[in-house]
Amino acid sequence: MSQRPQRVLTGITTSGTPHLGNYVGAVRPAIAASRAPNTESFYFLADLHSLIKAQDPARTQRSTLEIAATWLAAGLDPATVWFYRQSDVPETTELMWLLTCVAGKGILNRAHAYKAAVDRNRADGEDDDAAVTAGLFMYPVLMAADILIFNADRVPVGRDQVQHIEMARDFAQRFNHVYGRDWFTLPEAVIDDQVALLPGLDGRKMSKSYENTIPLFVPPAQLKKLVFSILTDSTLPGEAKSTDGSALFQLYQAFATPDETAGFAAAFADGIGWGDAKQQLFDVVEREIAPMRERYEALIARPGDIEDTLREGGRRLRERYAIPLLRDLRDAVGLRDLGKVTVATGEAMDVALAVRPLAVFKQYREPDGRFYFKLVDGERVLLQSDAFEAPRDAGQTIARLRRGELAVGDAPVTLGEGVDAATVQAALAALAAADAEKAAP
Ligand code: TRP
Repeated sequence: MSQRPQRVLTGITTSGTPHLGNYVGAVRPAIAASRAPNTESFYFLADLHSLIKAQDPARTQRSTLEIAATWLAAGLDPATVWFYRQSDVPETTELMWLLTCVAGKGILNRAHAYKAAVDRNRADGEDDDAAVTAGLFMYPVLMAADILIFNADRVPVGRDQVQHIEMARDFAQRFNHVYGRDWFTLPEAVIDDQVALLPGLDGRKMSKSYENTIPLFVPPAQLKKLVFSILTDSTLPGEAKSTDGSALFQLYQAFATPDETAGFAAAFADGIGWGDAKQQLFDVVEREIAPMRERYEALIARPGDIEDTLREGGRRLRERYAIPLLRDLRDAVGLRDLGKVTVATGEAMDVALAVRPLAVFKQYREPDGRFYFKLVDGERVLLQSDAFEAPRDAGQTIARLRRGELAVGDAPVTLGEGVDAATVQAALAALAAADAEKAAP
């Protein structure tokens, strides 16, 4: 077993503006994990994936910038982890094609995201694939390439992504099998069930699709306004409040220490007024976000620096891993330097078949006193001759078969059990090629 550190890889979808739910559920735990000892961490902006959904160039660029700045502002350190942009490692898309050629289409048919699109179309009485792009269909193969190109061991993901990791394992296994070596590590999904699902302004899960989010880096006055708009019940100041199912309480808990949270629970029991409670929530959120917001604003004011950071990450990664790997993979699949084929023109067959041991003709005499021959490939009998009165006749028949002067169908021979004519032809062609090579000056 290799002693290299565990490789942990995370892809960040570059769409939308990050909100508190993304921060608590994804960014903050991932950054904490990036500091774990004995790991080599890979964080990348999945900008190629984003094109499947977002096709507004200005927004794609803006979103990539904002998300890169968010991760840096939240404490990701490009000096200790790999931080890069998917599209800066073009070997990824090349690997995607190699994987595409071993990936089962049937497996992709079963991908949740694709199936959901088909189900919606069916429900609407549309064609199965109406408005489904091949990009959506191929999403899992691109994701597999992201993971396999750096031989990641572990991939922290949400539950909805587990199937994609299983597919990556499947494609890796097939590739390893077809090309005869463990080219790829089989990655494992890591699901963190501890991670809090943050409620939004209306108490449902915070999500862009519910329009109930608190964007991460809004100015303090707006943050305060949003916090004060969180839905609460109609209990009055002085009336005891339940922490159970309270969005306000859960949000507080996500940003406060355990002691503060216990104090907040006591205040609920004591009948704290909602206005006071909201002020306290604002205070703990602002305490954590304010320094990040400051870094974020400084970063976003110098987008060229972010560009340099990303490019440098991509450049170093390509040099270290992606370029050498693709060089080996190209060779493995046979995308090779034609100048390095060593045999003479016309003997290409020989190259293809040289790896297999050649079949051999065996001549022998039976107790009946007559002469026979067999063509054998290892243990397998490919051809069995009829009887010859003289050994010379057997020898000449062999020679003519070998030179291709006599067709198998015209010779006094029968095919071995379970052997087809094509197998015999291939074996004879290989022998002919080998003879020709020996004869060549
Ligand atoms: N599909 C992931 C998501 O939607 C993003 C992603 C792309 C990813 N490539 C990846 C995640 C590789 C992990 C590994 O969240």
